[in-house]
Amino acid sequence: MIDPHLGRELISATQLSERVEQLGKEISADYADDPPLLVCVLKGAFIFLSDLARAIDLPVDFDFMAVSSYGSATRSSGVVRIVKDLDSDLTDRHVLIVEDIIDSGLTLQYLRKNLLARGPASVEVCALLLKEGLQKVDPQLKYVGFSIPPEFVVGYGLDVDERYRNLPNIAQYQP
Ligand code: IMP
Ligand code: MG
Repeated sequence: MIDPHLGRELISATQLSERVEQLGKEISADYADDPPLLVCVLKGAFIFLSDLARAIDLPVDFDFMAVSSYGSATRSSGVVRIVKDLDSDLTDRHVLIVEDIIDSGLTLQYLRKNLLARGPASVEVCALLLKEGLQKVDPQLKYVGFSIPPEFVVGYGLDVDERYRNLPNIAQYQP
């Protein structure tokens, strides 16, 4: 189906699976002694999490959190609301936040602060995509899949108004 809003491919399905495989190996090595609790930030990270988890060769646990950031459809304001909270107790756990994309970094800044207040052993971040040059604060990412130019992208979990999440690749979106 031809879609005039869908622009050029930025990252192919093959590139995604190769990079996710590498990230899984790194995480498996880094956390060999302390398997992490993977915290998936819904909804955008659900496909990344499911592939990443299968590339990690450790007995990890999973939990899910949903946040909504006030702002327009394509720009975040930094005011974040927890729509679904975690079920797990984070006390003394090694937490690895799995995020789809870091744009301003404000959503992540809020999330990190919120989870750190719950007494975990550590909180680190694995983000699939990092938009270059847009962060107001250092996002302090332990793992990054790809750095991309500051364009709006969709696919592999990422949406515009809930569409395009099931694209197997990452493509530009043209409003
Ligand atoms: P931030 O708070 O500006 O870093 O925005 C992060 C959130 O905005 C991400 O978790 C996404 O849900 C959404 N977002 C930012 N950029 C994009 C994009 O290019 N495509 C789809 N969603 C995006
Ligand atoms: Mg979103």
